[in-house]
Amino acid sequence: MPAGRVYLETFGCQMNELDSELVRGRLASLGYRFTPDPAEADVVLYNTCSVREQAEQKVWSRLGDLKTHKAERPETVVGVLGCMAERDGEDLIKRMPVVDILCGPGELDKLPELIDNALRTRLSLRAERSASQVALQGSTSRRSATLAAAQDDLELLDLSRAISPTDHSGSAYVRITRGCNKFCTYCVVPFTRGAEVHRPPDHIVEECKRLADAGVIEVTLLGQTVNHYRYEDGAAVTVNGMLQPQKGRIYKGASAEGRRSDAFTGERVTTFADLLRRIHDEVPAIKRLRFVTSYPRDFGDDVLEVMRDHPRICRYLHVPAQSGSDRMLKMMNRGYTVAQYDEFIARARHYLDQPELGRPLMISGDIIVGFPTETDEDFEATKALLQRSRYKNCFIFKYSPRPGTVAYDRIPDDVPDEVKRRRNNELLALQTGISEEIGRAQVGREFEVYVEGPSRRAKKQAGLKKSSLRNKANHTISLTVSGREPGEASESHGAIASIDAGGPVQLSGRTDGDQIVFFDTPEGRSPADFIGRLVRVRIEAAQGMSLAGSLLG
Ligand code: SAH
Ligand code: SF4
Ligand code: F3S
Repeated sequence: MPAGRVYLETFGCQMNELDSELVRGRLASLGYRFTPDPAEADVVLYNTCSVREQAEQKVWSRLGDLKTHKAERPETVVGVLGCMAERDGEDLIKRMPVVDILCGPGELDKLPELIDNALRTRLSLRAERSASQVALQGSTSRRSATLAAAQDDLELLDLSRAISPTDHSGSAYVRITRGCNKFCTYCVVPFTRGAEVHRPPDHIVEECKRLADAGVIEVTLLGQTVNHYRYEDGAAVTVNGMLQPQKGRIYKGASAEGRRSDAFTGERVTTFADLLRRIHDEVPAIKRLRFVTSYPRDFGDDVLEVMRDHPRICRYLHVPAQSGSDRMLKMMNRGYTVAQYDEFIARARHYLDQPELGRPLMISGDIIVGFPTETDEDFEATKALLQRSRYKNCFIFKYSPRPGTVAYDRIPDDVPDEVKRRRNNELLALQTGISEEIGRAQVGREFEVYVEGPSRRAKKQAGLKKSSLRNKANHTISLTVSGREPGEASESHGAIASIDAGGPVQLSGRTDGDQIVFFDTPEGRSPADFIGRLVRVRIEAAQGMSLAGSLLG
C-alpha cells in the first residue's frame, strides 16, 4: 500500500473540524504521515465549506496556488473534501483540473480508498492525468435507502475514532446529529450534509467515555439543531452488532420544512435532555459538557432543567436568531417569530442565569444582514433584537446567495453590497459595545477556566522570532505547536504538545460561559502544567471582547 505525506487544511464549522480529525486518525492508522507544508506533501487535502461564497473563494485561491506546484510535481494528489465538493460536484474538477479527488461529507469513510486509487494510478501512469476519484451523495442524498447504507459506514467512521491521549488537548467534539431537515431558504447545509440523522445514545456515551479515558475533560456535542435530538430505543435495529442511527421523522408531503413527528410514542425515546443527563451522570470525568448549535424553537424546559441541575453542563447557548424582523424570518423559513425567540431567551435566563453563584448564562447568536428585500425598518428591528438579547458575542454575516437554495432560485439578491456592508458594520459596532459591557460586569468575579494554550500574542511572539526568543524577563522561550498544522484555517481546540518556557507566558482559556480569558503563567512554571486543565482565575480587566485575570491558588 503506498502511504505518503498528507497536508490537510480545514475550513468552515466545527462539524468540519471533527470530520478532519476523524480523517486524520483514519489515515494515520493506515500509515500516512502529516506535514504542515503543502509543498512537501504527496497528498494535499482541503476540507471545505460552502455556507457563503467567501468561504468557497478561499478554497478557489488555494487551488489556484497549487497550479504551479502541480506543474513542478505532477504526482501530487489533490483532494477536495466536505461541503464544497458535495455542492459543486464534478463542475469543480472542470474548473480546477488540478483536483483528483472529490469526497462529500457523507462519504468520508471512502476517502482512504480514493486516495489509494489516485496514488496508484498516478504512479503507474507516471504523471498522466488519471481518472478522477469521486464519492458524493449527489441527488441520492435525500433518498432513504441509499442514505441508510451510507450512514452505517459513516457511523463506523465516528465509532472507530482513534483516540489517544496525545491527540487531544483535553477538549473534543462529539457528533450527535448529522445533517439538517430545516431548509432555511438561504442555507446549503441540508443539501451538502443530507437529511437529519440521530446517532444512537449508547454510541455517543461510549465515545464520551473513551475520550474521558484518554484524558479529555471538555466535550462539545455537535449538531445543526442539537435540541432536535431524539432517538427511539425501542425501534433500534442492529446490523453486525451495531445500533443504527435514526433519521429525523419527516411528515411526508409537508412543506420543504421537515417537521418532526411526535406521534411515535410507546417506545423508549431518548430526548436531548435525556442524552445530556446520561453523559453528565455516566461520564463524570468530563468536567465540562456543552453543545452547539441550538435552534430557537422546540427547546423545552426539560433541557433547561437538566442544564440547571447538572453542574458540569455549561451555562452557554449558541442560539442564532438570524433576524429581528418577522417578515424576514418568514422569508427565511425559520419557523419562529421574534416574540417566540424573545420568549426563549427570557426563559433560558430565568432558568440558568445565576451570576451571584458565579454562573451567569452566556448566549451567542448569528445574524444575517441584507437578506433579499430587507428594508431599513427590518434592519432596525434586528438592531433592537440585538439590544434585547445581550449576546456575549454575535456572528454577523452578509447574505450570500447560494445556488440550489430556495432563496437563490426565487428571491433576487436585491440589497446592494454597500447597504449590506453598512448594516454589517453597524451591528458589529453595536455588538462590540454590548460584549464590552458584559465583559466589564465580570471584573472582580472568579471563574473556572479551561486552558486552551498560549494566547495569540504569545504564539505571535514565538513565531516572529522562530525557535528562540527573549521575553521581557529575558528568558528564552521555544514553542512547538503540534496536533493542528500551523497552516490550518481554524485555531480553536489546537493541541499544544510541548512548550518550554522560563518566564511568564500568556495563556488563553475559556469560562464555562465560553468567554475568553487571558492570564500569565506564574514565574518558574511551565505552560504545559496548565494546558488542557481547569484552573481558577480572578478577572481583573475586560479587554475588548476578552477578559484578563490572574491565576488563583
Ligand atoms: N444550524 C445553524 C447554522 C449553521 S450555518 C442554525 O440554524 O442556527 C452557520 C451560520 O451561517 C448561520 O447561522 C447563518 O447565520 C450563516 N449563514 C448560513 N447561510 C448563509 C448565507 N447564505 N449567507 C449568509 N450567511 C449564512
Ligand atoms: Fe442551515 Fe437552517 Fe439547517 Fe441551520 S437550521 S443548518 S441555517 S438549514
Ligand atoms: Fe460550512 Fe458545511 Fe459546516 S457548508 S458551515 S462546513 S456544514
